[in-house]
Amino acid sequence: MNKRFYITTAIDYVNGAPHLGHAYEKVITDVIARARRALSPSPGASAQQGDGVFFLTGIDEHGQKVQQAAQADGKTSQAYCDELAAIWQAFAKKLELTNDDFIRTTTARHKAAVQAILAKLHAAGHFYKAAHSGFYSTKEETFLTEKDRLPDGNFPAQYGEVVQLVEENWYFKLGAHQQWLIDYIEANPGFIQPDYRRNEVLGFLKNNTLEDLCISRPAARLNWGIPLPFDANFVTYVWFDALVNYVSVPAALGDEAVLSVLPSSLAPHAPHLNLWPADCHVIGKDILKFHAVFWPIMLKAMALPLPRQILVHGWWQKDGAKISKSTGNVIDPIAVIDEWGLDAFRFYVVRELDIGPDGNWTDAGFQSRYGSELANGLGNLVNRSLSMLKRYRNGIVPAPANELSGDAAKVIADVRAALEKNELQAALQNIWLLVTRANQYVDQTAPFKLAKDPAQAARLDEVLYNLAETCRVLAVLLWPFLPGTSGKTYAQLNLPGSPARFAQSQWGGLVAGHAIGEPAALFPRKDQPKK
Ligand code: ME8
Ligand code: MG
Repeated sequence: MNKRFYITTAIDYVNGAPHLGHAYEKVITDVIARARRALSPSPGASAQQGDGVFFLTGIDEHGQKVQQAAQADGKTSQAYCDELAAIWQAFAKKLELTNDDFIRTTTARHKAAVQAILAKLHAAGHFYKAAHSGFYSTKEETFLTEKDRLPDGNFPAQYGEVVQLVEENWYFKLGAHQQWLIDYIEANPGFIQPDYRRNEVLGFLKNNTLEDLCISRPAARLNWGIPLPFDANFVTYVWFDALVNYVSVPAALGDEAVLSVLPSSLAPHAPHLNLWPADCHVIGKDILKFHAVFWPIMLKAMALPLPRQILVHGWWQKDGAKISKSTGNVIDPIAVIDEWGLDAFRFYVVRELDIGPDGNWTDAGFQSRYGSELANGLGNLVNRSLSMLKRYRNGIVPAPANELSGDAAKVIADVRAALEKNELQAALQNIWLLVTRANQYVDQTAPFKLAKDPAQAARLDEVLYNLAETCRVLAVLLWPFLPGTSGKTYAQLNLPGSPARFAQSQWGGLVAGHAIGEPAALFPRKDQPKK
């Protein structure tokens, strides 16, 4: 059985409502997943089959943060999580994510995998129990070290209340693997991307001695977790639990690699999907250490291959300041989508911010891109191209012409190259080169003037074909990014199906005599009163 391209997002804590940062990560992952499907060579594979791609997202439900949020809400942890899970699943739908599965860490399939891994690593001698006295941040669910203190002796505000605790816990011997990990990262430059994130991890590993990882919490203090299979007084540390999601789903789906090291009882039916190793874990910069240090060592201890890539995105701010519920400096992605449309939201976040650096949301910037690039750029092009074809040729496509085919071919090649490198912003920039070129072409050829002169009928045919065909090409190129717009453009062209295959972008798809459908505005201008 062939292995699929397996791509994941971080799984979000369900201690609140989804915000811009969560939406961004899910959208970029969805664009990559759609692009891989579009580029994959199996035409006609059904959406259900995933076309050789498997996209996993989900939620992280255990741990102190969630338990505290449930308590604050006056609910049991499970009831709280069930409510939030519905909200987060609806959010994935709202973003039109093409995820193939949605992991909840409170489900039986996940808990069974976590416990199987813990049992295996315990049996192999990777864990030990020890007492530890230290300063503990309940907010970050972590013991702090002397290094975390500020010069004035206090701990930074981000840790919230810090209390001194003496506790017995289970520890995972990480240190033994430090040199192996350094060597691995050095030998595999693509493993952590972008490069500056890889260098950050290498710097950390070379300049610090890895402390052993505490993988338990006393059940007496925190009961909202997965019990350790070998010691009922403890539950599993939420990060150990959460990282396992990337293999618990493959295990439940019968992945051969994962089931070669874990009990086959984890798969309820015969092996049928091969996913591991993951091709791409998409995560934010704040959780790099968990994914680039702890997770590889966990996998090595399990005798599983490492993921092929950890792709690290930056963080969004709003108006130059941290997004924060307490100060009210937030963006509600759902409100933006309800007002401006999903594609406007997807476009802004992908076009504005390359995968890597930090970004800054401003309402003015959002509206400016909406107006210039979507309404006046793409929307205007498609609307006037199809309207003129309707008006001057009764909506019937003239004989194929090639004047813009060279421009299109260059953009198609550059977009493909960008998509293969997950350079989503660059892909959009390239697509807009074609939008701009075609809008210039309208201005230069002035079809509205040609239409007045019967002697120019053949020239008008050429111009109209070039424009309509460019719109069709754009619909295909835009599919991973703006699926709604792409589908509407295809529908206005009266073409069957969806433009979900990159190969459809090749020039010449529109045939002479084809009757297009009804043009309609793709991005209504917001400064005009609504009808
Ligand atoms: O860390 N801009 O969950 P989480 C961009 N459960 N991305 C942001 C962001 C922002 N302002 N704020 C958060 C967790 N994110 C764990 C993950 S994975 C096995 C467990 C990103 O809800 C953040 O970087 O705090 C992370 O990748 C994701 O949202 C979930 O964050
Ligand atoms: Mg976080």
